[in-house]
Amino acid sequence: MGFGFPPGALRARTGGNHPVHVPILDLKLAYDELAAEFDAAYRRVMASGRYLLGPELEAFEQEYAASVGAAHCVGVANGLEALQLALLARGIGPGDEVIVPANGYIATWMAVSRVGATPVPCEPVAATHNLDPARAVPLITARTKAILPIHLYGQTADMAALRTLAADRGLWVLEDGAQSHGATCHGRASGSLGDAAGISFYPSKNLGAFADAGAVTTSDPALADRVRLLRNYGSKERYRHEVIGLNSRLDELSAAFLRVRLRHLPEWNRRRAAQAARYQERLRGVGDLVLPHVPDWAEPVWHLFVVRTARRDALQAHLTAQGIGTQIHYPIPPHLSGAYRAAGWKRGDFPLAEQVAAEVLSLPIGPQHTAEQIDAVGAAVRGFFAGG
Ligand SMILES: Cc1ncc(COP(=O)(O)O)c(C=O)c1O
Repeated sequence: MGFGFPPGALRARTGGNHPVHVPILDLKLAYDELAAEFDAAYRRVMASGRYLLGPELEAFEQEYAASVGAAHCVGVANGLEALQLALLARGIGPGDEVIVPANGYIATWMAVSRVGATPVPCEPVAATHNLDPARAVPLITARTKAILPIHLYGQTADMAALRTLAADRGLWVLEDGAQSHGATCHGRASGSLGDAAGISFYPSKNLGAFADAGAVTTSDPALADRVRLLRNYGSKERYRHEVIGLNSRLDELSAAFLRVRLRHLPEWNRRRAAQAARYQERLRGVGDLVLPHVPDWAEPVWHLFVVRTARRDALQAHLTAQGIGTQIHYPIPPHLSGAYRAAGWKRGDFPLAEQVAAEVLSLPIGPQHTAEQIDAVGAAVRGFFAGG
């Protein structure tokens, strides 16, 4: 994926009249930093003759499960199918309802739709952008089977409240952990906060492969077993197919690369946290800017640094003109997207989600960004609100 700037442009040039170039992300630099380890992993796998369902995947599954404090991890092809397989394994399907965030990435909704169940949108807590447990209560019906919160932008949803709600109503909790590798809630890691979690290792994630990849984590052995079966044509033994499954396997090369990245995840998350703190310090009280709010029970991993302003589009244009990359996560709430047109949602149905979509802007953040770059972005944002 291209992010609009060549790798050479990464270094912020703040002196003289030079424009500042800060990409929102540059994945090549992640490779560069650990090239020797990635290259060794590549050679090891290529020389092994095993490319699917081999020792690298087994080792990664054990290492990742241990890192989140779950008993099991099952590698799959991507984050969407991780969620889909977890729902399938739980037996959720046509006639069932699953409560999902009204704001966020559409994959979460699609996973529910792809198993034939109905996504029921729930508005977020305004301060955190995460699914609001209080607003979920009136959405629960006799058909509700599960709650599927996203830990959006790298900060966990209020899992203590959601677990209590789910326990009271006999609901299953599936975490969407695509953006929260290493994040904690009351000290417990994302991936072990619900009954199961669907994880994405899409290249730009905090823990990303160099291709599509994903996993399901859970401490429920029967569920893990079922996902393992479903990811491989419903088969545990070659040519014996017990159920109709998918082909959704995490390949050996990706697993080997992920093992390298996993070893560096805590350090890379620390760098993100330092950058987030730098932004918080430099952008506090600037214009109408709303900075990310972190409840005292949450330790986010800053997958994205998302600010809000009523002047979002103008701010984005100002930053683009200065060579600063930004993105909008996400510009169209799922209920207004073409994919859900048939459901008949209209503008105004989820006003908070719609307001979030109109006001959010993601600033550059990532383990390979420099403090100088973060400061340059901070200065450009302040310049915009100062009228410069
Ligand atoms: C919140 C969320 N859920 C699910 C996914 C789906 O993951 P994937 O792209 O690996 O299918 C993503 C990312 O792409 C995501 O950000």
